[in-house]
Amino acid sequence: MTATIDLKHLQKSFGKQQVLKDINLTVNAGEIVGLIGPSGAGKSTVIKTMLGMEKADGGQALILQTTMPNRLVLGKIGYMAQSDALYEDLTARENLAFFGRMKGLNGKKLKDEISHVSQVVDLTSDLDKLVSGFSGGMKRRLSLAISLLGSAQLLILDEPTVGIDPALRRQIWHELGVIRDQGRSILVTTHVMAEAEATDRVALLIGGKIVAFDQPQKLEQSYDVSSIEDVFLKAEKEAQQ
Ligand SMILES: Nc1ncnc2c1ncn2[C@@H]1O[C@H](COP(=O)(O)OP(=O)(O)O)[C@@H](O)[C@H]1O
Ligand SMILES: [Mg+2]
Repeated sequence: MTATIDLKHLQKSFGKQQVLKDINLTVNAGEIVGLIGPSGAGKSTVIKTMLGMEKADGGQALILQTTMPNRLVLGKIGYMAQSDALYEDLTARENLAFFGRMKGLNGKKLKDEISHVSQVVDLTSDLDKLVSGFSGGMKRRLSLAISLLGSAQLLILDEPTVGIDPALRRQIWHELGVIRDQGRSILVTTHVMAEAEATDRVALLIGGKIVAFDQPQKLEQSYDVSSIEDVFLKAEKEAQQ
């Protein structure tokens, strides 16, 4: 199997605070990996460090078999940050067109992709509204739609479904499943435990380390509990001891 993401002993401190102590994580082609952990555990820092937006203090991040940071690789990834980076004084469609062109899309291809990703996040009827009037959830959905443009081999999604209602959340996860089945890879952070259950493997980040990393069912077995939420609680408790 080809690892699309391979993190080896990644470390990152902010001042005296060592947020990432020793991060080892792989994401394979055709796989959805969930990264979960308490708020402030360092999930976003894992992502920013592997992408080179924060400078690693140690270890190595390989993405698409290339040592990061690497500008060319960044262009091949669909990345959705935890905070939305949208042009508020443009409409949703204009945002999609702008970011789509940056990914090399144009003409009919761009139009078709905008139409498809808008459907996935249920923004079709809001496309010509200014983003400045969007709710938090709508901005999240637009950011997700942008990350889906260009059919990247790898999607890195930082809390993509915050503020999104359950029905649409399900629809989005269905699309993520389709993407996975196309042999593409997804790394997704979430604090919604039901979403963690829907991944192929889930990594639990506590105390700067990945303390557990396996298929959700296998984690439940090895922790002798019946849900990922209970795995999470048990692992957190163990880490505090
Ligand atoms: N740029 C930064 N400067 C200083 N501290 C930071 C910075 N980014 C994150 N942190 C700290 O690192 C820790 C992990 O943050 P973060 O990765 O955002 O956690 P998570 O995404 O799991 O909620 C937090 O304590 C946060 O305050
Ligand atoms: Mg975060």
